[in-house]
Amino acid sequence: MVPNSALVAQPVTPTSDDRRSSFDCGSDAFALEVRDAIRRATWFATEPSLRAIRFDRADDTVGYAVMALERWEHPTWKSQPKAVYLYLEWLAVSVHFRAIDHDARPGERFSDVMLRHVVEGVAPLFPHVIGVLCIVRIGNLPAIRLLRRHGFSADEGGPFNDARTGAPSVIYRILLPGRA
Ligand SMILES: CC(C)(COP(=O)(O)OP(=O)(O)OC[C@H]1O[C@@H](n2cnc3c(N)ncnc32)[C@H](O)[C@@H]1OP(=O)(O)O)[C@@H](O)C(=O)NCCC(=O)NCCS
Repeated sequence: MVPNSALVAQPVTPTSDDRRSSFDCGSDAFALEVRDAIRRATWFATEPSLRAIRFDRADDTVGYAVMALERWEHPTWKSQPKAVYLYLEWLAVSVHFRAIDHDARPGERFSDVMLRHVVEGVAPLFPHVIGVLCIVRIGNLPAIRLLRRHGFSADEGGPFNDARTGAPSVIYRILLPGRA
């Protein structure tokens, strides 16, 4: 269970997850891209270090967080030294739960409960991880608003073209207390 919530955080793999193929996080361009990535069964073939959590409320799929431990330039993308981050590749909430308050946590959305679990529940489990990092397309306002609500800040000197997709993007990151 995710503490103080009705959500279960279920580790899944592409082969163990029988709900992935019908997951729908919306119809805007950002959502379609993330939806298609989550529906693909090739996560671990292309990026073996990816780990995925599916958030369920009873029989409903609320969303996914797909992450990897990666070394990133630190403290900004223009720096030379690198440090280990929990790289949040995709965070996606089902269309049925987007912009909706979690019933057990008034004032917090389902997205808030999921992101808090990633930052406070998952990242600290790895002793060498100093923070959580996410690449966000410029213009993805729901994602940017969510990250800012949780104290993530944008790297200065951006946007840059994401090496994997070529899309103009900004890095958002948050450092874990006592780790940096
Ligand atoms: C990012 C995400 C998890 C945030 O979930 P959420 O906090 O429930 O946010 P929502 O998307 O429902 O909407 C948040 C706000 O943005 C607004 N919004 C929604 N789509 C929008 C759009 N295309 N442009 C501008 N605003 C938009 C909503 O009206 C809402 O406004 P409010 O805060 O004033 O009520 C969710 O949007 C999502 O799953 N998106 C698809 C996948 C994705 O892009 N993930 C992030 C990158 S990996």
